[in-house]
Amino acid sequence: MRRPFVAGNWKMNGSRERTRTLVADVCKAVRELPEVDVGLCPPFVYVTDAGETIGDAPVRLGGQTCAGVEDGAYTGEISATMLADAGCSFVLVGHSERRTLHGEKNADIAEKASLALAAGLSPVVCVGETLDEREAGRTETTVARQLEVVVERLEQDELARLVIAYEPVWAIGTGRTATPSQANQVHAFLRGCVAERAPNAAAGLRILYGGSVKPENAARMFAEPDVDGGLIGGASLDAKQFIDICRAAV
Ligand code: 13P
Repeated sequence: MRRPFVAGNWKMNGSRERTRTLVADVCKAVRELPEVDVGLCPPFVYVTDAGETIGDAPVRLGGQTCAGVEDGAYTGEISATMLADAGCSFVLVGHSERRTLHGEKNADIAEKASLALAAGLSPVVCVGETLDEREAGRTETTVARQLEVVVERLEQDELARLVIAYEPVWAIGTGRTATPSQANQVHAFLRGCVAERAPNAAAGLRILYGGSVKPENAARMFAEPDVDGGLIGGASLDAKQFIDICRAAV
């Protein structure tokens, strides 16, 4: 049985004050949810504040991305090692906004996943098709390609620490979600792709769904056998909504 994981990706939202309030509210509620792994990805500058507020509460801290190089003259970049040093235990890599707005390619994302693992972080590799790709019947080919490059780059033992997030691009921030069965179909397909290389890791692999998850649709989504939790954008900025989504994963 895979343990559910629900993570909030705040993207570029919030302030120091709001970080502290939101994190404190989540921590309070999460103590009553021992069955779920709950994570938060604040903007980099608030990671330390968030970590201080979390204290010993069972909330995992994550980065929204990391650099594809270890260290050096890379102005503006944050390395996986720095995230681990600041208290993170996971990092998102390959979010569709990074792919489209920052030109990240599959090979860059594989490198980031590898560096994250070397720094002791779990990489949450984000994959997903555009609406054009779905309508052209290319969903599986697209996500398989995105995942394949990462899977080929990693060792068997590293694959056991991988998390995948399936986020159809057309569902991100649009209010339009994949149906639970559409999501499950892609999740099962992704699990199969990992199984070809690492059957044991595939069975334990957590695959999260992301894209307009709200308290109203979360329970149906999480009830699907291959949906192991969610990556939540907009709704994670509201403590009550985010907590209700975490509860739906129990
Ligand atoms: P929304 O939940 O706002 O659609 O965002 C999803 C997402 O991109 C999480 O990484």
